[in-house]
Amino acid sequence: MKSSSKHRYKTKASLHRSPLGTALLTVGLLSSLLPSTIQAASQVTDDIAPEAASSVTTKSLVTSKQFMVAAANPLATKAGYEVLQKGGSAIDALVAVQMMLGLVEPQSSGLGGGAFVVYYDAKTQKITTFDGRETAPQAATPELFQDATGKPLGFYNAVVGGRSVGTPGTVKLMGDLHKKYGKHSWKSLLKPAQKTAKEGFLVSPRLAGAIAKDKARLSRYPETKAYFFDENGAPLAVNTRLKNPAYAKTLKQLAKKGADSFYSGNIAKDIVKKVQGLSDNLGLLSLNDFQSYKVKERAATCLPYKQYDICGMGPPSSGAITVGQILGITQHFDLAAMGPKSAQAWQIIGDASRLAFADRGRYIADTDFVPMPQGLLDKDYLASRAKLIVPGQALTEVEAGTPEWKTPLALADDISIELPSTSHISIIDAEGNAVSVTTTIENGFGSRVMSNGFLLNNELTDFSFASFKNGYPIANRLEPGKRPRSSMSPTIVLKDGKPYLIVGSPGGSRIIGYVAKTLIAHLEWGMDIQSAINLPNMLNRFGTYDLEKGTPAESFRPSLEAMGFKVSIRDLNSGLQGIVVDSQTFRGGADPRREGIALGD
Ligand code: GLY
Repeated sequence: MKSSSKHRYKTKASLHRSPLGTALLTVGLLSSLLPSTIQAASQVTDDIAPEAASSVTTKSLVTSKQFMVAAANPLATKAGYEVLQKGGSAIDALVAVQMMLGLVEPQSSGLGGGAFVVYYDAKTQKITTFDGRETAPQAATPELFQDATGKPLGFYNAVVGGRSVGTPGTVKLMGDLHKKYGKHSWKSLLKPAQKTAKEGFLVSPRLAGAIAKDKARLSRYPETKAYFFDENGAPLAVNTRLKNPAYAKTLKQLAKKGADSFYSGNIAKDIVKKVQGLSDNLGLLSLNDFQSYKVKERAATCLPYKQYDICGMGPPSSGAITVGQILGITQHFDLAAMGPKSAQAWQIIGDASRLAFADRGRYIADTDFVPMPQGLLDKDYLASRAKLIVPGQALTEVEAGTPEWKTPLALADDISIELPSTSHISIIDAEGNAVSVTTTIENGFGSRVMSNGFLLNNELTDFSFASFKNGYPIANRLEPGKRPRSSMSPTIVLKDGKPYLIVGSPGGSRIIGYVAKTLIAHLEWGMDIQSAINLPNMLNRFGTYDLEKGTPAESFRPSLEAMGFKVSIRDLNSGLQGIVVDSQTFRGGADPRREGIALGD
């Protein structure tokens, strides 16, 4: 077994070499989070990151020949590794990883949340995607997150409680995929997490830090408080052995009765009772929402790029389109010649990203409810967007463009808020099946409401709180049964039609920039996947250039300011996991900013 982590749970600051050639400083567990320069109202809230940076560990590139798995927690990676070692499929490994993540990284994803899967099937040589996103309750109205005067609620007033909870999709997604692509028994895949829940696991520094930081919100509901705090009311400390008998019981039931039992039996009933019976901020989920929940298979959204096809999740995720637009615009410039030390390269990437985010805010939502332009990834359209960029000078104005659209609709720009959280899993099995999965309960610790040993999501706050702006509807407004727009960007890059790179990240709407950076670093700048992940994060979504605090990215400040950007130095807490497939050798990397590892044989 080869591991990418030299230090499994390192809490002290450390130094490692960055690909830019200077020491990358570590970031403190609870470092300061509020930058001074912020633009739009949504960004003000977006800067209160609930999943704060934890310590940075040194990770080295992992190589293997037969299979590989990379996930956000060593226990979860190990669960997937053991399945693959016994001949399990990528989907088998995914089930084991997800069940373990829901236990050991409960703040980020789990049975109470939703996920997107990009899947390459070696037998049919086809790529497809599966949408296990949460749905808005049938009883929900567009005004769910507005007060009596129609004013949007404060973010955490909306998040904490039952109001924000959408119908969870992750369990059905795992069950449906396993029925289609599983080789091992469903029961055997749930066993490792069931055993760990019963025997206990050691609370990681990242989880302990997150609990301490969220103390007030996590104390609001008794079941949640009892789980995350000790008998004296103190947040669980690092290395506390934490048992979760309720989670073990839930997995035992799912193992026996199957994933669908989650949606029709006592678990669904408990969740409905819980969200409708809280002491405050009641939710609207009903049994009917559970019984009618469906996982949707959707065609992958792909961008031809050099000799590759960059494929990912289309709507309701904005991921693949926005990542695709960034890459489709920047490929009109010679980024390879400029290299990662060029401020001009970052100006072009930043402005391409701003243009892509402008389209995202105007046009992208759940296309089962809202029509979307056909031409968002059209070659000529992206060429016209690239022409707006002036090398060496930041764009002064950025607006959504006018891509081809057969049935145009007047829409207002979106003002939804997405905070960094979530988890990513990349897997390739011995037969060449590959899966890229981003999975979430939305905010760190989701709605803070717990049932049956897991946290319930707050995914509905990924909708725009406002429904209209200046009389025009917002595409991502809340509607009953609709899936909130996501930024999750699970990606599989194909080369000659076969998986070449499997990658993704958590991080709210910054996911898009984290993934785009990694793709550019590897495909344009030739960095191996670990170095591409390590490369300091530099992102621009809405005008302000975010540079990763304590890293060489800070040195770009003067040049970017001279070009006209506002700059904010801040934690940029990606959690990338990537695998590159190169002539039968797998090379894996995990993000040093979080606790993940890659393992393979
Ligand atoms: N809730 C994070 C996302 O879906 O982008």
